[in-house]
Amino acid sequence: MTDKKQDTKATGVSAMWGGRFNAGPSAVMEAINASISFDKKLYAQDIAGSKAHATMLATQGIITKDDALTIIAGLDQIKTEIETDVFEFKVSLEDIHMNVEARLREIIGDAAGRLHTGRSRNDQVATDLKLWVRDALDTLDGDIAALQAALLDQAEIHAASVMPGFTHMQTAQPVTLGHHLLAYVEMLGRDRSRVQDARARMNENPLGAAALAGTSFPIDRDLTSKALGFDRPSANSLDAVSDRDFAMEYMAAGAILSVHLSRLAEEIVLWCSDQFGYLRLSDEFSTGSSIMPQKRNPDAAELVRAKTGRVIGALNSLMIVMKGLPMTYGKDMQDDKEPVFEVADTLALSLVAMTGMMQGAVFNKERMHGDAGKGFSTATDLADWLVQTLAMPFRDAHHVTGALVKMAEDKGVGLENLTLDDMQSVEAGITHAIFDVLGVDNSVASRTSYGGTSPINVANSINNARARFL
Ligand code: ARG
Repeated sequence: MTDKKQDTKATGVSAMWGGRFNAGPSAVMEAINASISFDKKLYAQDIAGSKAHATMLATQGIITKDDALTIIAGLDQIKTEIETDVFEFKVSLEDIHMNVEARLREIIGDAAGRLHTGRSRNDQVATDLKLWVRDALDTLDGDIAALQAALLDQAEIHAASVMPGFTHMQTAQPVTLGHHLLAYVEMLGRDRSRVQDARARMNENPLGAAALAGTSFPIDRDLTSKALGFDRPSANSLDAVSDRDFAMEYMAAGAILSVHLSRLAEEIVLWCSDQFGYLRLSDEFSTGSSIMPQKRNPDAAELVRAKTGRVIGALNSLMIVMKGLPMTYGKDMQDDKEPVFEVADTLALSLVAMTGMMQGAVFNKERMHGDAGKGFSTATDLADWLVQTLAMPFRDAHHVTGALVKMAEDKGVGLENLTLDDMQSVEAGITHAIFDVLGVDNSVASRTSYGGTSPINVANSINNARARFL
């Protein structure tokens, strides 16, 4: 109790903005205000941004070349200290920007104070986070590509493996497993194009917007843009410090990706069940039960499915932080970072887990093939045959096929088990050739329309997809 009371009175006036304050922040204020526990992740971006800024200031004659060199050497030393774990992060210094600057002052003395000329933490943090998200987008693109590669390898093995295709979770028509897996390759391809779009759109440099209005110093924003790999400086200083679209876009692309991963995860869970029995995950990606020795649980898939909630939640949380925020910077925006970091960690883990599951997955072709013919799945093939061979209008063919399905159902057999006499009792024109289209292999082989499921299409699509995506 007493301790808590004491805690609310921390001492120490900030060296950064202490000029107008008589006392340091209370411990509660410090606790709610400090972001160093999480924004230290931005150290490399912060230092890169500061080096670019210092170089530009010297080029423009705003600080001396000597000061710039001293500042840069000091920043390099700080980077090493952080990376070798000897840097002491201080909560009293609030965030990564002030921790780095305070240490710089310890190392190089007064010249450190010149670094913040013509800049504010507002444009600094926007720049740091943007640089971080830009790297995260590149990492994400690569991680998604790795999953596409694993899916393509399985699709190649199973270009002609027949499985039931479902609508309404009811057996619909036979498809190939290769085709089914390629559907995910396409989904992931769109995810990557969202990632790439977001990266291109966000690549404008906030640095130099200063606190919000720009600066009276003769800075050169093109120089810092170039040094940091931005395409151009952002055009409006108010927008530059208050924009977090780039973080929302990153998480929005991640949220849609997560939905895709969750759908694949759900299929893995279903397919691993005894009821389906289509898939056996490798031992690396299966877990046992503490009580039921027979179990092989697909925990990793279940967790990928679950983690979608985190990603969507993180996107939600930042959108809610940003909605209704008046221009320009508000401290609310400090809460942008944790959701972004959580999304990055979650997606990286989910993708690597999914890639591992796919690489080691063993599919049960016989089981899938057996199921593919259930539920009168070739009824459409029968109707198509009536149209193509007997020139019947499709609606009539649908009707005749319906009658044959009913007959088969009444007899408790599959369509292919009806006799020719049975068939002809419904439609006299039917010949023995009908039986060719009733098998599931013939069914999938006939689906040669562009984008269809035939093994030939799948083989072409795999080549195509490798060229487009890998
Ligand atoms: N830690 C702050 C953030 O993440 C840096 C910017 C602070 N700006 C300010 N005007 N207090 O948003």
